[in-house]
Amino acid sequence: MIESLKQLREQAVKELGTISDLALLDEFVVKYFGRKQGKLTFVLRSLKNLDERQRKIMGTDANEVKIEIWHLIDERRQAIKKMGKKEFIDLTIDGAKPELGHLHPITKIRQEIENIFKSMGFAVMLGPEIESDYYNFEALNIPKDHPARDMFDTFYIKDGDNLVLRTHTSPMQARIMENHKPPFAVIIPGKTYRNEATDARHEHTFHQIEGLVVDENVTLAQLKWTLETLIKNLFGKEIKTQFRPSYFPFTEPSVEVLMSCIFCKQKGCSICGQSGWLEVLGAGMVHPKVFEAAGYPKGKYSGFAFGLGIMRFAMLKYNIPDIRMFHQNDQRFLNQF
Ligand code: DAH
Repeated sequence: MIESLKQLREQAVKELGTISDLALLDEFVVKYFGRKQGKLTFVLRSLKNLDERQRKIMGTDANEVKIEIWHLIDERRQAIKKMGKKEFIDLTIDGAKPELGHLHPITKIRQEIENIFKSMGFAVMLGPEIESDYYNFEALNIPKDHPARDMFDTFYIKDGDNLVLRTHTSPMQARIMENHKPPFAVIIPGKTYRNEATDARHEHTFHQIEGLVVDENVTLAQLKWTLETLIKNLFGKEIKTQFRPSYFPFTEPSVEVLMSCIFCKQKGCSICGQSGWLEVLGAGMVHPKVFEAAGYPKGKYSGFAFGLGIMRFAMLKYNIPDIRMFHQNDQRFLNQF
């Protein structure tokens, strides 16, 4: 009987090793531990036919085998469950969507503005962010001692070498006029820099779009129509515009452009300072001194120019309260666009 118990144990262990699913494991349990036909049950039951001494020895052995095999069954069950988890592939489950990036709000509004100007026949050009003092100031009728230099808090690259981070996109006016013969209509989008403290409305690094149209007999009325077309396309046909006299060294006359407040519909709110109007652009007719610096024949051409802050437009369009949000890279902010 000891022999057959040994054999039974070996057989059971071997068989268990080949079992790889739970149904077969259940069958195995019945085969060895079933109440009526179970092989081990049979051995355990027949103990009662032995005399007392033998029963003691055999009983202990048989119990050990029983406990060992139950142990192995348990192990096997865990292993099968684990395997099942790893290897089961449910082809009907939807795939995980790959995370796609998207355009930054500044890029979005820049493209939108570019498209409006392209539809009016403007070309798009780019210029350097590191500029010489000449293009950033001198060629735009802002000589060294000109008080208008105070309008621009400038980052100088190195003392005395006359290189600056451009304080506006206007230097491209001079560069383009130098090597293009009118007529032309261009816009120049790009990054600009000012050495000033940041707050909700000011950034040291910001974005502008410059515009320049030069031909014979260009008029202020054309400037007005162009900027009205931009604003109505961006913010809606019902938006009103207003042109007020202003001052820039490179335009004469100069204007500042305002649009009716999109937030309060001119009832007065904190964003428009209760005035009903939002200041959105600087513009004007190209100053004769600027034509002169470009080497154009005196009196031959006229033109208009404008400069707008892209971030300001984005803040109005998307109702963004703080200009610093654009460069913080906070996903909670960016994911809204
Ligand atoms: N460059 C000016 C600035 O940054 C904006 C500007 C005003 C540009 C009038 C122009 C213009 O072309 O005509 O404040």
